[in-house]
Amino acid sequence: MNIAVIGAQWGDEGKGKIVDLMTPHVSVVARYQGGHNAGHTVNVGDTQFVLHLLPSGILHSGVRCVIGNGVVVDPEALFAEIATLASQGVEVGDRLLISDKAHVILPYHRDVELFAEEKRGERKIGTTSRGIGPAYEDKVARRGVRVSDLSDSTDDGPLAAAIRENVSMRNLIVGGVETDWRTVHADMCAAWTKLERWVGDVSLFLSRAMDEGDRVLFEGAQGTLLDVDHGTYPFVSSSNSTVGGICTGLGVGAKCIGSVLGIAKAYTTRVGEGPLPSELQGWAGDKLRETGREYGASTGRPRRCGWYDAVAVRHAVRVNGIDALAVTKLDVLDSLDEIPLCTGYRLGGKVLTEFPSSVSTLAACEPVYETLPGWSRATAGVCQYDELPAEARSYLERLQAVTGVPIAIVSTGADRAHTIVVPGGLIDRWQTASKLVSPPS
Ligand code: GDP
Ligand code: IMO
Ligand code: MG
Repeated sequence: MNIAVIGAQWGDEGKGKIVDLMTPHVSVVARYQGGHNAGHTVNVGDTQFVLHLLPSGILHSGVRCVIGNGVVVDPEALFAEIATLASQGVEVGDRLLISDKAHVILPYHRDVELFAEEKRGERKIGTTSRGIGPAYEDKVARRGVRVSDLSDSTDDGPLAAAIRENVSMRNLIVGGVETDWRTVHADMCAAWTKLERWVGDVSLFLSRAMDEGDRVLFEGAQGTLLDVDHGTYPFVSSSNSTVGGICTGLGVGAKCIGSVLGIAKAYTTRVGEGPLPSELQGWAGDKLRETGREYGASTGRPRRCGWYDAVAVRHAVRVNGIDALAVTKLDVLDSLDEIPLCTGYRLGGKVLTEFPSSVSTLAACEPVYETLPGWSRATAGVCQYDELPAEARSYLERLQAVTGVPIAIVSTGADRAHTIVVPGGLIDRWQTASKLVSPPS
């Protein structure tokens, strides 16, 4: 009965809203990868919450939240997020557990990232500048610092040695004003005194919780096309945002995962560089961006916008074993007379129906569109499937047909209440089969 919520496009699909909606039916919400590069928005009435590192379930007072070993943790960013939530009336208290094995983002990671991006020039990735990539690089290179390492405050212990070596590497690579390893070490020791209360063995915690019958929601960050293996490499983030990241990023077995809900917008967006076959240039892209308020929840950068790309979503369905989709932001298409839908890519006289592995192949692809009639009526706020205009239902049914999985949720607005749970669909059955664990806060 556990469930994974995973982005089926290039991130920002509306995962935060959907996780928030489902949280009352679970006891635990777990983040398994990424870091504060994520920005998951939840709107409750007039209040907007943006979660970066904390699972979106934290807004529900009866729910435990977990940050797994697959996440990279910037302590300062975490403390700032906890303080912002407190100012909005949400207390994290003892509901948080952070893996002792999660890797730490240190201040020099951001310096290295900015330097690398600048050196790449036109080949830059367009990262969020949060130090995510360099922190994962240090992890894989076996010179990283893990959360539990921060407990060592001695000047000649392993933490001091690791920071000293990494800082001297940073000073060689980046140059400029040198970073003093002692300052970084002192800051990390100070961070430990605040972090310690939340640190523990996440794998063991989840195993015990599941043994007791607790239901877990696995909250993905980023999206399938930003996955370091299955995305548009090298224009990706540095973790496995796809379903496999759950096992490695939390220390749980594959059989724990249960169902997989993919989240996809009714169109496509992307922040940062890299190919986007169905991208709209000029005023058409600007119109979609303004109507959908497509500006990054973490960085505020304008998102590139395009039509729904069924080739990309089909790829996500296969890579993640997606059981059903939640289609978000249907209301953003309300004013259109007709809506193009990308069903294939034209390349050298052939039509590709499967997502290419190579980014240069993808960049050479031209989208193949079929055009569906728009509904030119407001769907914003509609909560019943059969209250949608016939053309909107036809559009959704065509999305189901071309992506090959049923739609279980349709979102018609940013607010929690503006949601259609499709009767008889995966989420309807999942909600009915579970008792309400905690009322929505
Ligand atoms: P996430 O990273 O996947 O959680 O998505 P973001 O929070 O970065 O971006 C999604 C944006 O769309 C947020 O501003 C949400 O409040 C908003 N949103 C989510 N669902 C809907 C919807 O159905 N309609 C509209 N208009 N906005 C939505
Ligand atoms: P959520 O969880 C959209 C993008 C960045 C950049 C690339 C690499 O809110 O969907 P990074 O800083 O991770 O090394 O940047 O990945 N990116 C996201 N785009 N949503 C996100 O998260 C993203 N997290 C990273 O824009 O192109
Ligand atoms: Mg986001």
